[in-house]
Amino acid sequence: MNADTPRPPSISELAELRLSRRTAMAGGLATAAAAFFGVQAPSAAAGVVEGAMEGVAESSGRGGGRPLLGFPAVAPSTADAVVLPPGYRYQVLYPWGHPIVPSGPAFAEDASNTAADQAQQAGDHHDGMWFFPLRDRRSGLLCVNHEATTENLLHTDGRASWSPEKTAKSMAAHGVSVIQVEQDRDGGWQVAESRFARRVTMTTPIEITGPAAGHPLMRTGADPEGVRVLGTLNNCASGPTPWDTYLTCEETINKYFYYGEQPPPAGSVEERYGIGSESPYPWYTTESRFDMRTEPNEFNRFGWVVEVDPFDPRSTPKKRTALGRMEHENAVVVRGRRGEAVVYMGDDTQFDYFYKFVGAEPIAKARRAGRSPLDEGTLYVARFDEDGRGRWLPLVHGEPGLTAADGFADQAEVLVHTRLAADAVGATPMDRPEWCTVQPRTGAVYFTCTNNTARTESVDAANPRLNNRFGHIMKIDENSDPSAVRFDWDIFLLAGDEASGATVPPDQAFGSPDGLWFDAVGRLWILTDGAQPQVDGVDQNNQMLVADTERGDIRRFLVGPPRCEITGITAAPDGRSLFVNIQHPGDSGTPENPRASSSWPDYSLTGRPRSATIVITREDGGVVGA
Ligand code: FEO
Ligand code: CA
Ligand code: CA
Repeated sequence: MNADTPRPPSISELAELRLSRRTAMAGGLATAAAAFFGVQAPSAAAGVVEGAMEGVAESSGRGGGRPLLGFPAVAPSTADAVVLPPGYRYQVLYPWGHPIVPSGPAFAEDASNTAADQAQQAGDHHDGMWFFPLRDRRSGLLCVNHEATTENLLHTDGRASWSPEKTAKSMAAHGVSVIQVEQDRDGGWQVAESRFARRVTMTTPIEITGPAAGHPLMRTGADPEGVRVLGTLNNCASGPTPWDTYLTCEETINKYFYYGEQPPPAGSVEERYGIGSESPYPWYTTESRFDMRTEPNEFNRFGWVVEVDPFDPRSTPKKRTALGRMEHENAVVVRGRRGEAVVYMGDDTQFDYFYKFVGAEPIAKARRAGRSPLDEGTLYVARFDEDGRGRWLPLVHGEPGLTAADGFADQAEVLVHTRLAADAVGATPMDRPEWCTVQPRTGAVYFTCTNNTARTESVDAANPRLNNRFGHIMKIDENSDPSAVRFDWDIFLLAGDEASGATVPPDQAFGSPDGLWFDAVGRLWILTDGAQPQVDGVDQNNQMLVADTERGDIRRFLVGPPRCEITGITAAPDGRSLFVNIQHPGDSGTPENPRASSSWPDYSLTGRPRSATIVITREDGGVVGA
């Protein structure tokens, strides 16, 4: 460690934080906190695993019952492969460039497909997804997000000689796929011909709804009314709604807009939303709407949660502005006690926040009246207090800090500038909130804080590590009332290796938790994107683990190929087919050497690595993970 290396929190610093919480916390939480805390002591080596596993255990304390995990953990890996436990297999179902129906344009492995081809094929960088079963339950509609692109692999000659055609192909490789998938008698899955199949891309017309629709900040030269935008962007994670639609969430929107040679002024809204002087995507050179010098408001029309109806291929997707504008990760919808929609959401940036939306009226009532359950309601942001309690702070125009005098003309402006509103009310800056998920039995909300190496100055109880390289997973308990404004919280686990103070067993070490999903029976699937603990000084590939939160068991289930992230997870209703996305494998490839770091999944000497949806099944046909 040199002088520039951030100092990890000392044991006494952590003790102080936790002690102040422990005095205020009720029994179960305090026990979990003590166990979690105990593993910080380097001298407690023999107790690390035991203490860690208590720390992983669900604090509600039901430690008995049938074990949820029935497979042997796999080891970390650097192989150019998808590694699974014995008795498991996978097939590549839907890689980048696969046509959305079998009769569509075939993939050209030299990346010579045109923009028009790409608009009828799987986009790049598969991320969040969801399986909507059809009536026979052996087929379904699979919605898949295409978050971003690896331009060096998307075009035969990469980024050279940028052209309108390259912008068009890149834009067509973003967005969402809706495909129909079917299982055959052997258990394999295929993409089928389907009247539902479609792509939503950066040129698809999308309606703007909710409080910000039509606001001056949403108006552009091409859309003077501020109600219709072309496309959805950086579709990261996602979530299904109880009314069988798909929410796709716009994340890192700043990368696509060009501000000028100088970055925005310090303290400006544009700076707060991550705009710099560079745009890694050269779209603005051929499409003026991405040039903020001439069209400053186009940027405001991205960063939303977008609703797609997969069962109506002619429907216009909707940007639901009541859910706020940020770098959205996923959106988890549950029903509140009055039947209203409650939506949990993270904003994945260092020191940004965790949010929830509570609908104004019951879902059924809104839908009967032809209204969206997501267009009217209250957006809240989380404050995590040191004593293990927390508060949802309403982002409502007129509240202290959110008045016209504070720079918010109306509620639409509060929503377009959600981050500034959350700053103003005193939300807790977190270590990059990514996915969230709800425990099906207890209703507890878990969310990942993937990492935060910029936390160099101070820690707090909810973000207890300086230079948080490996991240942690938080847990919120609203005592069975998703609309509550108060909650209890705890840290479910600290990721990383022993040296970083992790609360997981050393042989299951992982870092950068990102995707997070409770399956129907309560297995917690943890998907990683980022730094993993090294083995013998060697970096390891990203991975997926499963935790039994009630028994305190955690096991590594999958390791991906080099340079990929593991993201996007959903299952067929019988739990015997698990769909997982492998995003950007081998993304260091170049036009001259596309297979520089991976040849997955085709292993073709003349091909290139491809993001892909895979399907994992058991050779004996059993439930995956059991
Ligand atoms: Fe798209 Fe924060 O991951
Ligand atoms: Ca993510
Ligand atoms: Ca991530």
